[in-house]
Amino acid sequence: MSENTITFTKNENPKVKPQSDQLSFGKYFTDHMFIQDYSPQEGWHNPRVVPYQPIVLDPAAIIFHYGQTVFEGLKAYKTKSGQIKLFRPDKNMDRLNRSNDRMCIPPIDEEFAVEAVKYLVQIDQDWVPDAPGTSLYVRPFIISTEPYLGVSPSATYQFIVILSPVGAYYESGINPVKIAVEDRYVRTVKGGTGEAKTAGNYASSLKAQEVVAKEGYEQVLWLDGIEKKYIEEVGSMNVFFKVNGEVITPELNGSILAGVTRDSVIELLKHWNIPVTERRITMEELYNYHQKGELEEAFGSGTAAVISPIGELVWEGKKMTINNSETGEISKRLYDTLTGIQYGTEEDVFNWTTPIKETLEK
Ligand code: COI
Repeated sequence: MSENTITFTKNENPKVKPQSDQLSFGKYFTDHMFIQDYSPQEGWHNPRVVPYQPIVLDPAAIIFHYGQTVFEGLKAYKTKSGQIKLFRPDKNMDRLNRSNDRMCIPPIDEEFAVEAVKYLVQIDQDWVPDAPGTSLYVRPFIISTEPYLGVSPSATYQFIVILSPVGAYYESGINPVKIAVEDRYVRTVKGGTGEAKTAGNYASSLKAQEVVAKEGYEQVLWLDGIEKKYIEEVGSMNVFFKVNGEVITPELNGSILAGVTRDSVIELLKHWNIPVTERRITMEELYNYHQKGELEEAFGSGTAAVISPIGELVWEGKKMTINNSETGEISKRLYDTLTGIQYGTEEDVFNWTTPIKETLEK
């Protein structure tokens, strides 16, 4: 299937676009969306770009009851010269298929999905914002649509892509965030769905987040679900700690999301000859490094969060201020380099960006 097989229905009532410098995260949506259906007889079929609109589903659709669904998040950036580029979309589609496998959803054609995203972004290219730090967030997702109340995989699905012009994910922008280490609730366990990007992982994180928000913390840092000892991830980002010049991040263990930005950070650090280790690390070990003055920086990485310095961690009532609550040197270098590659002001030595076509051929 090629991009040319995607049918296009133009939105004749385009919306008023938000001001580029007044965007936060995920509040506005563009004029079009991509949809493709799945049935056992036809497989994935009928790819189309249509006006952005509500989706109509049977109230018994499996998605509403048993949450059989997966999603992704990637971004399109406008470069200085006005070109629009996607960042590592192939990695997102590869992960979407790994999430599909875990959630018993039929695989998508990854190359075609990248083409579909490019085509949709091309159609809504005027929505890609150009104020510093802004981009067009791309949200591909798959929902189970079969009306059936038995607990079993759906026979039918829809693959949908929507677009949202965004600014910073956190209200604090790129300033260091405050994170509470969660020791009561758990997000997921080894063997669970933690490494899949599926709605349930996020739904189960809401309660903990609601509790810590009242105490002034932006997010929670999850520990492993069994011993509540080992550091895993923050719900919207992977985490890194710089200890005595070495950067440490929890190893992928089946319950941590394999972040595309996480992978890019590791590649960049290796490229700069900065020691980087993926390993198990306990909260106690991290606390001890902090007490000895050896915890030099902490930061999160994610598509939405980009590189987000962590200025404060609280664990079992003990407050840890990191790098004076200021953005550390490595965090800043990573932020500048990653966004530089994304916005085309730094050489893309890894070939991570891919341009969209700028003229519609139809
Ligand atoms: C992303 O970084 O794209 C995410 O999916 C995190 C989130 C907003 C749930």
